Amino acid sequence: MTEERDWVDLENRVAIVTGAGRGLGREHALMLARHGARVVVNDLGAGLDGEGNDDSAASLVVAEIVANGGEAVADFNSVTTPEGGQAIVETAMKAFEQVDIVVNNAGILRDKTFHNMTDDFVEPVLDVHLRGAFNVTRPAWEIFRSQGHGRVINTSSAAGVLGNFGQSNYAAAKAGLVGLTYVLALEGAKFNITANAIAPVARTRMTEDILGKLADAVSPELVSPLVVWLSSIECTDTGSVFTVGGGRVARFFTAMTDGWTRTDGALTPEDVRAHWEEINDESKFTVPNGIADDFRALRRALRGSE
Ligand code: NAI
Repeated sequence: MTEERDWVDLENRVAIVTGAGRGLGREHALMLARHGARVVVNDLGAGLDGEGNDDSAASLVVAEIVANGGEAVADFNSVTTPEGGQAIVETAMKAFEQVDIVVNNAGILRDKTFHNMTDDFVEPVLDVHLRGAFNVTRPAWEIFRSQGHGRVINTSSAAGVLGNFGQSNYAAAKAGLVGLTYVLALEGAKFNITANAIAPVARTRMTEDILGKLADAVSPELVSPLVVWLSSIECTDTGSVFTVGGGRVARFFTAMTDGWTRTDGALTPEDVRAHWEEINDESKFTVPNGIADDFRALRRALRGSE
């Protein structure tokens, strides 16, 4: 087999990458273009806290892609409004008459402990990460449905999956993206639309102060190979959340302990206290792949004896 045949091919695909002017988004845009995709490089060029704008971020990435022989167009709209999302998708349609891939990557940080968290820290973070994904994916979704294929890659975070001190706003937005991903996977299945989420670990301005010794190992371009693979037609897996960084790619999944069941319909708080250890016992668990598996486990538990 030649190397060329092994190539993950995105020829004839059009990708939108939000927040692609720097950091991870920039690397995704460059690598998607290297694999043949035509790319909309969206970025309003905001500061880390979401304030300000600077067109040069997206423009420079487009210039780099074009200099490498690829095709790209810059877009400076904010993802935070439905109009912005619509305009980003229109940029793709105007330039390339097509959209096949949406990488929701734009992000900001406004860290505070919950005790100090005020609306001006909550709303902008939810707007960029969570509403931003709705705003951009919704207009693209109509195109995906009518053409019978599409790829959505949402950028979650370990903070959303596992929690992180001082990031209640960010973690809530990132966990919201996991829920959104699961539902898009279910609703997109019959239209050949896949939706997956990534939880990256990479050295960018967002993380430069917190990575410590890990910083040297986690260059941002080591996240993009997963994005390219999930963007390809060849990858049909959907509804997963992957942790990716420093060369490692792994999958998060949700497990459920077998728990303890009282089958006579008379569960009391004292039962819960008495059986707390079994309820939390991780030695016996299942990995539900959807609500039906949860219901199935419940029916099985109710049939079984105590
Ligand atoms: P970054 O700050 O380098 O890049 C984020 C980009 O998003 C910036 O270029 C910014 O201008 C753009 N942006 C911000 N608000 C926007 C808006 N309203 N519309 C369009 N663009 C906007 O940060 P980084 O690290 O590259 O982050 C990319 C994504 O990865 C974010 O969603 C972040 O939360 C997520 N992430 C990053 C991790 C890491 O280790 N670097 C860890 C976990 C998640």
